[in-house]
Amino acid sequence: MQTTTPDKELAQQNWPWWPLLPLYPYGKKRTLCKELIPNQIWSFEQLQGIYYVAVPVRLIVVKVPDGLMLYNALPVTSELLKGLSNLEEKHGPVKTIVLPTASGLEHKIALPSLARSFPKANLWLCPGQWSFPVDLPLSWLGIPQKRTNFLFDDGLPYKEIFDWLSLGPLDIGLGRFQEVVCFHKKSKSLLVTDSLIAIEVKPPELFNFDPTPLLFHARERGEELILDTPKAREKGWKRIVLFASFLKPTNLSIPPLLEVLNNAFKPGLRNRKSHFGIYPFKWENNWESSAMTIIGKNRPLIQIAPVLERLVFPRAKELFINWLDEVSSKKKMRWLISSHFSEIVSFTSGDVNTLKRKILAKPWPSQKGNWSFLSWLDTKLLKLGIVPSDPIKNFKDLDL
Ligand SMILES: [Fe+2]
Repeated sequence: MQTTTPDKELAQQNWPWWPLLPLYPYGKKRTLCKELIPNQIWSFEQLQGIYYVAVPVRLIVVKVPDGLMLYNALPVTSELLKGLSNLEEKHGPVKTIVLPTASGLEHKIALPSLARSFPKANLWLCPGQWSFPVDLPLSWLGIPQKRTNFLFDDGLPYKEIFDWLSLGPLDIGLGRFQEVVCFHKKSKSLLVTDSLIAIEVKPPELFNFDPTPLLFHARERGEELILDTPKAREKGWKRIVLFASFLKPTNLSIPPLLEVLNNAFKPGLRNRKSHFGIYPFKWENNWESSAMTIIGKNRPLIQIAPVLERLVFPRAKELFINWLDEVSSKKKMRWLISSHFSEIVSFTSGDVNTLKRKILAKPWPSQKGNWSFLSWLDTKLLKLGIVPSDPIKNFKDLDL
């Protein structure tokens, strides 16, 4: 059931910088802390999304010899800082903050405030950082130059603890895609940002604090009340997964405006939380079976995120496969810890090989069904010359 959050607790969740990237839940970010590997790895997660299409985004904390290393940034709230301070008391200070992605705006946006919160921590950034719409120098974006290093270019932190592997770089037109994943040798865990995700049927725990996004999308029309049942939560989650993965899934249509407005503003729905009863989507038959192609029924389904597969890697399959080979060479790998969707899942070299086989057996790039919209978008960007036809050309001489 929905938990009532006292005012004091709500104040701990303030994120004043939300207008920089106005994503749900905007200025109030609930943070959930979990210990993933006892005394070694922890996760702090918040929700983020557009139009109630919200998924978890994560900061991962790893114990290092002199304290703690943060992998990825999250919007800094008092609640997050309190959780980190609790870990610091037991395991030592935050020594290092890693931004392992060049392109993931949702991971970059909070880095300046996180860096200010830990003024003694060294920063390690994925090379090739860029900003949009104007590519500004890092110091203008609030990243402290004096304590900033670049992964590979300036060396690598804690090489005795981690193996650092680069996925990319790739030229995606507006800038560079690159992600630096790290393999934590002691726990045999692979830490990733966007490259691999695992999706399960059960909605993420964060929704227990406010399941509105799930329930909002569990309806067929805007006139239906937002009602909380376990079935509605699961149904809403499956639809959110489809939205987040394919942007416009195939079993979804946009009803005429008049129909949307006719169903809106009904009693019980005339409030912001219900978006005043405006629900501009119509789900057709088979939406659920198409969702289950990317959701694991009995265990989280490990995959390359569809948006990444279709918009970043459509012309770089070989590079992705080579990277998977590099990942599967890590001895006795046990866990995948991702910055989105399921936080920790069992992950062995066998799982990597299964994924590789699946990718090699399917059409790449995919064009049909749920992939149609992403395929259309990629073709359009290619035709307009916004994305290059050879994303690797400019980086062929790089030695990572
Ligand atoms: Fe991301």
